[in-house]
Amino acid sequence: MWPFPKIIAHRGGGTLAPENTLAAMRCGFEHGFRAVEFDVMLAADQVPVLMHDPVFGRTVAAGGSVPESTSAQLVTMDAGAWFDPRYAGEPVPTFLQIIDYCNANDIWMNVEIKPAPGFETETGRAAAQLLRQHLPKGGRMPLFSSFSADALRAAKDVAPEIPRGFLSSAVPDDLTAIMQDLGAIALHTNYKHLTREQAQAVKAQGFGLFCYTVNEPELARELLSWGVDAFCTDRIDLIGPDFS
Ligand code: G3P
Ligand code: MG
Repeated sequence: MWPFPKIIAHRGGGTLAPENTLAAMRCGFEHGFRAVEFDVMLAADQVPVLMHDPVFGRTVAAGGSVPESTSAQLVTMDAGAWFDPRYAGEPVPTFLQIIDYCNANDIWMNVEIKPAPGFETETGRAAAQLLRQHLPKGGRMPLFSSFSADALRAAKDVAPEIPRGFLSSAVPDDLTAIMQDLGAIALHTNYKHLTREQAQAVKAQGFGLFCYTVNEPELARELLSWGVDAFCTDRIDLIGPDFS
């Protein structure tokens, strides 16, 4: 069961723009994508923002961390210069800014809840509270995903109507129990650990199956031939939104 887009731009614009920024969303859009994945983390003042790493250093040239910083501080931080001087000054966006951009441009969202360690429940709750207040008009649901079962449980408590996918780098042995517990409709998994047999077994159980992060067209074709429903890609230049 996968009533969502098939090809999704990873972190907004894949390798073509600084991840998890508004510039990345614009880049994905310019490449024809109307479906994006991005990572949501909680700032110290409980405002969700887009960020992959809890500790600064890779994309933001600063000391400290997301859970120690307020959203007011985060939105002044440069999340673009690391990628290319052209993007210098591109800020850390709030989740709300990105929801607004996606809704205004009819872009489907796979919202990965990416809690800093120790903030799983708070992050799931805050992301769900915000998203449920800003669902796209027209009834098409976004999709939450997370490696954190606690975050997904919190999202389910707050916004049971927003579907959930469980992220796991490999297919877990107790998949059925986990999916039931979380009320999850899809498994999101690393294609590197997936076999054709496992893919077929997941599909036979009626779950959606999403792979990350698929950057070669030939590999993408093979995964789709196994019954994989969807994947995200960093190579939005090689694998377009209508890829099949
Ligand atoms: O949601 C798929 C993928 O983004 C999960 O891994 O580390 O790229 O967020 P990561
Ligand atoms: Mg992600």
